[in-house]
Amino acid sequence: MKNKLTPNQDRIIIFDTTLRDGEQCPGATLNVDEKYAIARQLARLGVDVIEAGFPYASKGDFAAVQRIASQVGTPDGPTICGLARATEQDIKAAGEAVKPAARPRIHTFIATSDIHLQYKLRKSRAEVLAITSEMVAYAKSFVEDVEFSPEDAGRSDPEFIYEVLERAIAAGATTVNIPDTVGYTTPEEFGGLIRGIRENVPNIDRAIISVHGHNDLGLAVANLLAAVENGARQLECTINGIGERAGNAALEELVMALHVRRSYYNPFFGRPAESAEPLTKIKTREIYKTSRLVSNLTGMLVQPNKAIVGANAFAHESGIHQDGVLKHKLTYEIMDAQSIGLNDNQIILGKHSGRNAFGTRLRELGFELSETDVNNVFLKFKDLADKKKEITDWDLEAIVNNEIQQVPEMFRLELVQVSCGDRSSPTATVTVRTPAGEELTDAAIGTGPVDAVYKAINRVVNVPNQLIEFSVQSVMAGIDAIGEVTIRLQHEEQVFSGHAAHTDIIVASAQAYVNALNRLYTAQQTGDRLHPQYEQAVEAIAGV
Ligand code: KIV
Ligand code: ZN
Repeated sequence: MKNKLTPNQDRIIIFDTTLRDGEQCPGATLNVDEKYAIARQLARLGVDVIEAGFPYASKGDFAAVQRIASQVGTPDGPTICGLARATEQDIKAAGEAVKPAARPRIHTFIATSDIHLQYKLRKSRAEVLAITSEMVAYAKSFVEDVEFSPEDAGRSDPEFIYEVLERAIAAGATTVNIPDTVGYTTPEEFGGLIRGIRENVPNIDRAIISVHGHNDLGLAVANLLAAVENGARQLECTINGIGERAGNAALEELVMALHVRRSYYNPFFGRPAESAEPLTKIKTREIYKTSRLVSNLTGMLVQPNKAIVGANAFAHESGIHQDGVLKHKLTYEIMDAQSIGLNDNQIILGKHSGRNAFGTRLRELGFELSETDVNNVFLKFKDLADKKKEITDWDLEAIVNNEIQQVPEMFRLELVQVSCGDRSSPTATVTVRTPAGEELTDAAIGTGPVDAVYKAINRVVNVPNQLIEFSVQSVMAGIDAIGEVTIRLQHEEQVFSGHAAHTDIIVASAQAYVNALNRLYTAQQTGDRLHPQYEQAVEAIAGV
């Protein structure tokens, strides 16, 4: 089978690793259904490749990659990729997991920096060269489309990288990815590394050069764009820039930089500066919605001043700026909020809207729900319409995201009631159904209403944990707005997140807490470590 991406080097290939590298941040772990929901939205966004997980790392990751491969990796869908260390067992698992996709890819990697060779792999350069040839060829026996990465390339000897890449391409790698694994390089250095690879790897014309960067020094996006100027044609990135430590290069920042500054980048692709042809296949109007879905399901909040998708990214506060924008948008705006889908929130539904109009709007927004889910969401919508006059797309999306969060329902919140005010001690009463089916009611006094609710829930569920983050945001402005609560709690070094939306923020807070407790409780019952790389770390420490 021919690698579909090979002829397209005159544009950028967007490789999204939200479900693999992005999921490697504490508390961001997603279950199979949540990964599938994100993968579907990524396909709608128009990414070329989805790195759906690390199949050998856990049964859950294998199942998620396999499901995404069969249901999202359709002939007109994206390439589906599975990550594998350069070992037979990893590559075999990745090969099996991606097999159902119309365009399957295996991404295999081995470290090349002297630091990693000496302390982590305890292998010589000659051994790494031999493993590269052998394992790329082994991956090639499963799929035509093989990507190879020399891990920690940013701190590796370039001469050694040239040799390793030459071997990988000779063995059949069709994409060679250059990762700045620890976010160490500067744009000038990283661009120079890519230029050196183009000039010194004899068979480089047989592969696409990809780049992958971490944001430890806040330079990930700048580094990847410098790489584009020097010939990189695949960008590895995540939604909202989530990922290991300080995260990865943010997809929305890369895409909008290439979109807004197209006339600057066009000449690097051999096009006239004024060419209007997009440099990526991303449907930019899907960006905001994708950002919110990822944030809601991972519990990783987007900082208000985050470029492109932060709450303040399009807000003008100072009088001078407001005056300028009112006179002409271009005075202080380099892009239109509409271009990322931010203002596509028409007020479309109200109390009298019927099930048909409701279902149609859901489909237009890209939600493919089962009949049961549509019915459940419709009831929530009617409930909201009684409290809130005008329901926007963002409200609808908040209700649906709340519903599709596939948190296993071990504990179920049946009732929450609080009494508070400036003359009384905040008191909460809750009723929770336990996994054994018992309905337990208890009450507690707290420093505030949320504290009282959490204390009352703790008395019933009895699952030790420490609340480490609590945040409330409103979906839209207005006194009747839906409040979204995101929390993170910790137990024995593992972090679990919970998210819920409701017009009553106390109810949302209680539900978000129960959602996070359900994740914690499920992990305890199944013995699953939530971090897919955990087993790898244990093996490494044990010297396996
Ligand atoms: O950062 C890194 O080096 C990676 C590799 C697996 C590509 O994520
Ligand atoms: Zn990475």
